Amino acid sequence: MHTFEELSKEFQKRFQKQHFPTHPESLYEPADYFIRIGGKRIRPVMCLMGNELFGEIKDDAWDAANAIELFHNFTLIHDDIMDKAPLRRGMQTVHEKFGEPVALLAGDVMLVIAYEYLSNIDVTYIRKIVRLFNATAKQVCEGQQIDVDFERRETVSFQDYLEMIELKTSVLLAASLRMGAILGGAGDGNQDHLYRFGKNLGLAFQIQDDLLDAFGDPRKFGKQVGGDILMNKKTFLLIRAREVSSGQQKKEINELTNSNSPDKIERMISIYRHCGVEDWAKSLKAEFVDKAFRHLEEIAVLSSRKNSLRHLAEFLVNREI
Ligand code: IPE
Ligand code: IPE
Ligand code: MG
Ligand code: MG
Ligand code: MG
Repeated sequence: MHTFEELSKEFQKRFQKQHFPTHPESLYEPADYFIRIGGKRIRPVMCLMGNELFGEIKDDAWDAANAIELFHNFTLIHDDIMDKAPLRRGMQTVHEKFGEPVALLAGDVMLVIAYEYLSNIDVTYIRKIVRLFNATAKQVCEGQQIDVDFERRETVSFQDYLEMIELKTSVLLAASLRMGAILGGAGDGNQDHLYRFGKNLGLAFQIQDDLLDAFGDPRKFGKQVGGDILMNKKTFLLIRAREVSSGQQKKEINELTNSNSPDKIERMISIYRHCGVEDWAKSLKAEFVDKAFRHLEEIAVLSSRKNSLRHLAEFLVNREI
């Protein structure tokens, strides 16, 4: 069994290889730029962990891991266009550095190369894997669209928010684990529990992402702090603040969401602080991590095999990057 750190290191090493042809450079250099500027590589490592839970890591799992990370990077490049984000992984985003048309195509071609990796998978499993991959990719698109729709909506319930983050973020983490499990020959029951572990963990992960977007340390976080506030994203922070704020604060929130004043970020963060959103985030994350761990316990393998997943869970919800 490998630790989370060992798997991250090994995946990182293998993922360094050349994924793209060279011509035209104007397309492949931006694509290459993006996958080399960093990234935590969480999802491919989850695929490997899901695989190793049931035995030795299979070659197919490495192909699936490559496909998953490329797919994820494709979604990020397009997400940064949608979210008008200037920074990612501490570097300029692809559309900022190379322009939007290139960023669209660099994302597209990554998706295609992801399918090339999937096509290497053994015939015994390929159908199951491609179906799960496709179902998940559709859900991510749906979640992303709902996220964008919410920018224009005044009120979004906490339930709506959870549905949105489940689609845009959680299902990919859950599916990464499940793909590993499928390729490891796991039974349906074990696959289901692992998937639900991933889904609940994914919710806590996106809650942490939304928290860091407002409260993160810009030097570690690698993205523009306050980006969600600028875009009027309906994060749990805003939803919570709307719920618990005083009449005066409510007025200010409405004013701020309808303005583009230079102190918008600063003022909104100050309201968030007054509303105790950080404590709320803590209890929310704990709730979802608890649920996740209950599913982890139900997986019928030796408990010690699950240690790396426990470790991963702690990292995902307490991370600063
Ligand atoms: C960012 O994912 C997008 C979200 C779903 C929050 P990560 O935080 O895993 O991004 P990288 O790959 O490590 O940069
Ligand atoms: C992105 O959510 C989810 C996907 C890319 C599918 P965010 O928009 O919150 O992710 P970041 O904060 O830009 O990484
Ligand atoms: Mg987004
Ligand atoms: Mg974004
Ligand atoms: Mg975010």
